[in-house]
Amino acid sequence: FDPKTPQFFTSDRSSFASVSASDRWPVIITGAIDDLHRTVGEVKDEAKAKEGKSIIEHLAKLKYELQHDRELTPLDDDGETDITSYNQELSERGTPKWHNAAWLYSECYLYRRIETFFARSQHWKGYDVFARQKMSTFKSSRPAVLELAARYREIVHEAESGQSSESKSPEEIEQAERILFSEMCEICLWGNATDLSLLTSLTYEDIQKLQGSQARKASQSNILVNDIDAAFATMQQARKSKKDGERRVDIVLDNSGFELFVDLILGGYLLSTGLATTVVLHPKCLPWFVSDVTPKDFSDLLNSTADPQAFYTAADETGKTYPALSEKEVADVKFLFDQWSQFHQDGKLIIRPHRFWTTQGCYWRMPHVAPDLFEDLKESELVLFKGDLNYRKLTNDAQWDPTTPFTTAIGPMGPKSGIRVLAFRTCKADTVVGLPTGEDERLRQLPNGGGADARKWAWSGKWAVVSFSDGKV
Ligand code: F6P
Ligand code: MG
Repeated sequence: FDPKTPQFFTSDRSSFASVSASDRWPVIITGAIDDLHRTVGEVKDEAKAKEGKSIIEHLAKLKYELQHDRELTPLDDDGETDITSYNQELSERGTPKWHNAAWLYSECYLYRRIETFFARSQHWKGYDVFARQKMSTFKSSRPAVLELAARYREIVHEAESGQSSESKSPEEIEQAERILFSEMCEICLWGNATDLSLLTSLTYEDIQKLQGSQARKASQSNILVNDIDAAFATMQQARKSKKDGERRVDIVLDNSGFELFVDLILGGYLLSTGLATTVVLHPKCLPWFVSDVTPKDFSDLLNSTADPQAFYTAADETGKTYPALSEKEVADVKFLFDQWSQFHQDGKLIIRPHRFWTTQGCYWRMPHVAPDLFEDLKESELVLFKGDLNYRKLTNDAQWDPTTPFTTAIGPMGPKSGIRVLAFRTCKADTVVGLPTGEDERLRQLPNGGGADARKWAWSGKWAVVSFSDGKV
């Protein structure tokens, strides 16, 4: 079911695939070992501690195999049906070695294999080796969270008064809405710049620089393809034609913490302005690519906004304490919490996990591998795919000519699918499509752009593409 265009391989020296396999993955596995080591040290139950140590050994073995370029071994059965399909594909791919494997397959395999260690255990089922890291990074986003919470409250009030304003013409109201919609989308887009699998050593200052409104403004010209207006037109159209009916927006989530926070800002905005009546969030069922959202991350985030004072002022692991929030700051964050939890209770903000999102394949396979999900997404006015990995899966992480139309590169998810796709992607991998002729060449000539040999400009999350496909049947 996959496209014929070849994929990126970890053996391809000029691509980020090879940097990932040799430099990033060992660091990520080491981080997992450290986390588990720490938790095991705090465990009282002897049997649990013993089992925890044996999982550490499995992780260390995995790291050894990766660093010594061994073959990927079949996954041990943990009772889930996707294992057979991972293993079957592994053998169809000729049981590759770590440094000569398709990037997309081997990276999914890595996280799925880690999951088997916990899922097959007695005492560690559901343990998330990345949870600690996710939460502490979210805490470091405090300034941007406070800034956005204040902005969100303003916007919701503006929107409410805008809707009832009689002094504005319908065109003026529509224009104002379009601008706000774009702003919300840009916030949501750039929230993806801080994923933990890429930025393995972020400082507090780094994180703050990547967030905030200043950073966003500066980055506007870095959106290479921007179909936000087309998406807005779709939402407007739906509001007119289904005035009193259900209008659903889906968000295929990427990272937790700050990115999930901005996804909820966008979702809350759509619901409170009536652009959508339901927002369906799609998290992963297992810890994935370090920072991706699991259902527990969603509830943890809601809980942290319930009592922002406690969450943001608690001493961190080093004993460092933080200044108290002002009354207004607490009220702004609580406003968000009240809205989100009300939407959640009313069934307007729904969380819908599906195992398909953690399978190894690209989304070209969705109609065959997860027909239920494919049908479900057709019910939506707009399906938003967040982040880099979702984009790689939409396009099969293939070596497309960068001027290939987005609608071609997403195959069965594109024209005639009945699914309206909007990809919000900050570029952190080589695959890219939908660029005007000459754009890739221009970007390669910039400092650190990679020149003729590599598409380095696309690795850092500095550039973004927002691509739309209307899926018309
Ligand atoms: O390119 C680095 C990388 O970690 C890829 O492995 C992966 O596609 C991506 O970044 C994860 O980013 P995101 O969280 O945006 O999907
Ligand atoms: Mg991610």
